[in-house]
Amino acid sequence: MPSDMAVDYDGLIPNNVGLNADPRLRRALEQWHPSYLDWWMDRGPDGFQAADVYLRTAVGVDQEGWAKFGYVRMPEYRWGILLAPQVEGRTIGFGAHKGEMAWQEVPGEYRAMLRRLITVQGDTEPASVEQQRRLGATAPSLYDLRNLFQVNVEEARHLWAMVYLLQKYFGRDGREEAEDLLRRRSGDRDTPRLLGAFNERTPDWLAFFMFTFFTDRDGKMQLHALAQSGFDPLSRTCRFMLTEEAHHMFIGQSGIGRVLEAICAAMKKAGIDDPHDIARVRQLGVIDLPTMQKRANMHFSLTLDLFGSELSTNAANAYQAGIKGRYLEDQIDDDHALTGATYPVLRLKDGAIVREEVPALSALNMRLRDDFVADAQSAVERWWNRIVERSGIDYRITLPHVAFNRRIGEFATIEADPEGKVLSAQEWARRRDEFLPSAEDDAFVASLMKPVREPGKFASWIAPPRTGIDNKPGDFEYVKLA
Ligand SMILES: [Fe+2]
Ligand SMILES: [Fe+2]
Repeated sequence: MPSDMAVDYDGLIPNNVGLNADPRLRRALEQWHPSYLDWWMDRGPDGFQAADVYLRTAVGVDQEGWAKFGYVRMPEYRWGILLAPQVEGRTIGFGAHKGEMAWQEVPGEYRAMLRRLITVQGDTEPASVEQQRRLGATAPSLYDLRNLFQVNVEEARHLWAMVYLLQKYFGRDGREEAEDLLRRRSGDRDTPRLLGAFNERTPDWLAFFMFTFFTDRDGKMQLHALAQSGFDPLSRTCRFMLTEEAHHMFIGQSGIGRVLEAICAAMKKAGIDDPHDIARVRQLGVIDLPTMQKRANMHFSLTLDLFGSELSTNAANAYQAGIKGRYLEDQIDDDHALTGATYPVLRLKDGAIVREEVPALSALNMRLRDDFVADAQSAVERWWNRIVERSGIDYRITLPHVAFNRRIGEFATIEADPEGKVLSAQEWARRRDEFLPSAEDDAFVASLMKPVREPGKFASWIAPPRTGIDNKPGDFEYVKLA
């Protein structure tokens, strides 16, 4: 039986969970496997299943050297079940069971709650693969094409991770949920994915980079909160997924950074100082900065909806149960029970946005969302605005107010501008295209989406990366097209 660190690659399903010693589970997963492959062929990357892609595969779960790089055809990728090592003597860090030994089995009273959390997390993983499935046709380089596919296979591995938990710990219900994860479809009218942002279209590469920047960052926050879980197998699963998530966000933040670099360089070269001189900037074959801002506004606001309502009894219950913690719970210095604690929440009162102190337990969604906003804000400064600033062009990308363009929570019923000023429905309708991409903006971005397939070459609208994947040279053939 493999140890915690070693991955057994001999069987059909690579794993470090001792699958060979659990024939019932192995049979369940092997039965799920063909449906999974059907899903991948049907709803995974469109048109590149026979290409050789330079991918990294997880071969261990220790800090160093868990990844191996090599050419793989995607349907032959070794999707595996990988958990971070078990921490000896780990105890539950928060809620009513604080200080008790972490659970190795599902506690009966929290079974439904846990199953729901795992199912919702699991549903987002294949959803993003479905959303991105047509992007290969318009990749701006082989480097970017490879990055897209890396994200896709890893999101699919995250699906495996959640399916493992469902099949191992939830019996027949878990097997049914695992089937349903393959049955729902992003954007489908009858059987949509569970969360709104995962039913939106990802029509172009700018949307892909914004998605990996903002929406994968929501994934990071959710995984962090679940990594604190008292249910140890969930915690260990999420801890390993976080190592992969970091790479997805790198692709988003460096992707947008390279788009900004191309814009600024083209503007400088053409002697254009005014970022709002959109027509002239667009003639240079790059996206204009105001359109970048509008796209950021859209993806940021869609992602905020994923955190749910600001005040939530479900979130409070999950916390008290010791199932889902706060971001970096184990680094917070308080009682980890939130007894008598309050938290400031933005609320809508008589049509105005006001700050109100509420019991901290009921405001856990809000708190996680605040942590997300802070994390996104610092990444915008570090990865995006620094690039624009260095070019000398006077422009800054900013994150809109949390009341802007919301469909869930306190601000779902109103319209607000990016500064958080409440607008009448008429004014919103009149000014909407100032804040969010217009049909014309989207058509312009779409017009730039022409594939570039020559190694080392990049589309005009995006700069080459500083360094290659796995330190490969600039003209490396990341994808060998069949
Ligand atoms: Fe994921
Ligand atoms: Fe991700």
